[in-house]
Amino acid sequence: MQYDVVVIGSGPGGYVGAIRCAQLGLKTAVIEKYKTFGGTCLNVGCIPSKALLDSSEHFHNAAHTFKTHGIVLKDLKVDMPQMIARKNDVVNQNTAGITYLFKKNKIDSFEGIGSFVDKNTIMITKEGGETETLTAKNVIIASGSKPTVLPFLPIDKKRIITSTEALNIQEVPKQMIVIGGGVIGLELGSVYARLGTKVSVIEFLPSIIATMDAGLGKELQRVLKKSLGMEFYMNHKVTGATTKGKTVTVTAENAKGEQIHLDADYCIVAVGRTAYTAGLNLEAIGIKTEERGNKIPVNEHLETSVPGVFAIGDVIRGAMLAHKAEDEGIYVAERIAGQKPHINYNLIPGVVYTWPEVASVGYTEEQLKENGTKYKAGSFPFKASGRAKASMDTDGFVKVLADAETDEILGVHMIGPRVADVIAEAVVAMEFRASAEDIARICHAHPTYTEALKEAAMAATENRAIHI
Ligand code: FAD
Ligand code: NAI
Repeated sequence: MQYDVVVIGSGPGGYVGAIRCAQLGLKTAVIEKYKTFGGTCLNVGCIPSKALLDSSEHFHNAAHTFKTHGIVLKDLKVDMPQMIARKNDVVNQNTAGITYLFKKNKIDSFEGIGSFVDKNTIMITKEGGETETLTAKNVIIASGSKPTVLPFLPIDKKRIITSTEALNIQEVPKQMIVIGGGVIGLELGSVYARLGTKVSVIEFLPSIIATMDAGLGKELQRVLKKSLGMEFYMNHKVTGATTKGKTVTVTAENAKGEQIHLDADYCIVAVGRTAYTAGLNLEAIGIKTEERGNKIPVNEHLETSVPGVFAIGDVIRGAMLAHKAEDEGIYVAERIAGQKPHINYNLIPGVVYTWPEVASVGYTEEQLKENGTKYKAGSFPFKASGRAKASMDTDGFVKVLADAETDEILGVHMIGPRVADVIAEAVVAMEFRASAEDIARICHAHPTYTEALKEAAMAATENRAIHI
């Protein structure tokens, strides 16, 4: 079988790239080793985690805020198997959607492990061991990532688990330990804390979500403690874990060497993800992965050291995010078709789907200080927002950072209700190189959460926010 493009992996990088290739008239095939398309994101990542976050948020509100709204419920309880079944149904709808899109775009798909024979020949090894070979003018590697494992803390998938198993727990645990105060730990920790689990987070660094603007982690930690009773052991290095029956005991130590021992029903290990290249047989084409993180090196056009072999998404440098992988899929498809696409890596938004949500784009205040950029900052708290008061979601704030001289927006950082959606306005503004005053002068519907962005922009412009 001869193709213009063969894509290895059907996650958001691979499937989006394949569809764009087909739209551009390239004969395209996708190889996926799993039974369903969609990769980590659709099967065990973005989509199932958001489904459980939504379900658990409903439960938490029903248990804690409905009364204040004047809604009285009796005998409220969690039906965990049903919650998981609904999540599975959401996943199935999404993965089936990719099957439909492949058919619609006349993309051939093959189930099995794709590996290089040479730069234009890919062998597919199927479950039973049979093989099939495809030839391709171009290959896009979109093989994604897998959870990072701590060498001294083996995952047993029963009590010491990764995010994948945490999406399928059939009961509400009494206690849960989360190792890593990053995105996965806080999102999945929130799911269970909302359902009534006592969640303890052990984080190596002094801050949670440490790569985001520092103010965000501080506020999120405060709210998660207050509203969900989550416990945080900051500056603690995990040293080991043992299981006995249904109990897992985790040990960690702080900078002074003082030890803690925590017991729980489950321990989620969420200490990052590592690029996944097993089975690709990269040696056959002379590609060596980076020592740190196992990433495939690529140039500015996402081409590897082998001409015609590209790599995108989690398997290469940069943020491990679905929308980044998607944009790279489109980028490579358009490059192969001879176009001149562009990605602005500084404007890839980052979102944490806790409640309150956290969202960020552009430079953080810490980066601007480090670069020596002169900037001005304007903030607006949600407690001063009419919309937030109406929904009782008054935690958090929006911060706009703008160039001190030109007023160009350099970074926007938010924590608050529905900021995962509000951040899109900041991304658009920054793509068009808007000034803080531009946002301040644009009419925003009232009452909406987006008014907080306008007020923060007003505060950054001339310290002229109206409602604080
Ligand atoms: P993947 O989605 O990992 O897909 C790679 C695919 O390649 C897999 O299906 C794999 O089976 C296949 N494959 C690998 N090797 C081979 C081979 N040799 N032959 C054939 N097939 C192969 N990101 C967000 O932006 N927003 C979120 O809300 C979000 N939530 C997440 C929640 C969780 C719990 C997790 C774990 C991740 C989350 N992410 C989120 C990250 C997101 O899932 C990834 O960034 C994204 O899936 C990366 O896409 P990808 O196409 O590079 O790789
Ligand atoms: P992460 O990199 O976000 O966080 C890992 C955390 O673990 C860090 O804070 C780190 O300091 C800590 N850590 C590392 N080793 C430790 C140790 N031994 N003891 C204690 N703490 C330790 O990684 P995470 O949460 O696993 O997520 C992986 C990737 O998945 C992220 O890069 C993210 O991009 C993606 N993702 C994105 C989501 C989103 O966009 N909403 C949701 C979930 C995942």
